[in-house]
Amino acid sequence: MRLILLGPPGAGKGTQAKKLIDRFGIPQLSTGDMLRAAVAAKTDVGLRAKEIMSAGKLVSDEIVIQIVADRIELPDCANGFILDGFPRTLAQADATEAMLKGKGLKLDCVVEMRVEDDELVRRVSGRFSCANCGTTYHDDTHRPKVEGVCDKCGHSDFVRRPDDNAETMRTRLKAYYKETAPLVGFYYCKGVLKFVDGMKPIDEVFADIESVLGTES
Ligand code: AP5
Ligand code: ZN
Repeated sequence: MRLILLGPPGAGKGTQAKKLIDRFGIPQLSTGDMLRAAVAAKTDVGLRAKEIMSAGKLVSDEIVIQIVADRIELPDCANGFILDGFPRTLAQADATEAMLKGKGLKLDCVVEMRVEDDELVRRVSGRFSCANCGTTYHDDTHRPKVEGVCDKCGHSDFVRRPDDNAETMRTRLKAYYKETAPLVGFYYCKGVLKFVDGMKPIDEVFADIESVLGTES
């Protein structure tokens, strides 16, 4: 299955992608995670992306498209993948089409996750994640079952993102509505767009995603 999770910052794309990995055994391709890894490793791409990401702006299409093109070539993508945070501009969407077409492949579904702005700000402001496996939590609404211990991998190191604050979030939301929201129309016209109500609790959102994919058991 080749799937895109489309939605504003904090909509729950990463949270649902992790559940989809467990369900379908296909990898999550998160450009945000890949860029953060490049920043941490101080690679050439990471050095170029660091300030842009901290400011909540979008990294250049050229950099991001190349990262995804390289990642999609790896063997674990042969049976499908979940794109999380990519494509994010019409140029990236066109590049995705070209990449897939070059391999004789098609997208199965684009799931748009709709969440109100106030809730998005609330979610990113309280977010932290496991430094080992990336599972996301929230200070108020989604804490680990055992305090200080990741539910999924048992590690006890947690991290917060530098762009998860109310001011940067305003820039991220503007970037979303200006650059990424037009992809809703793009994929609607291609007949692959579905939407889910991302305001619901995490497990209900997941059930709705399974429902629109037609994979519920
Ligand atoms: P990226 O890492 O992609 O961040 P984002 O799109 O801003 O999305 P988030 O990761 O913030 O949110 P999410 O939807 O995954 O929500 P999550 O599941 O964590 O990008 C970061 C930056 O990298 C960009 O600003 C840009 O600079 C750059 N970049 C990345 N890709 C790029 C590209 N393609 N082109 C150019 N630049 C690019 O959930 C959020 C919180 O809410 C968590 O605490 C979670 O526990 C909680 N939560 C989740 N679901 C629910 C629910 N249903 N109910 C209650 N709480 C929930
Ligand atoms: Zn973990």
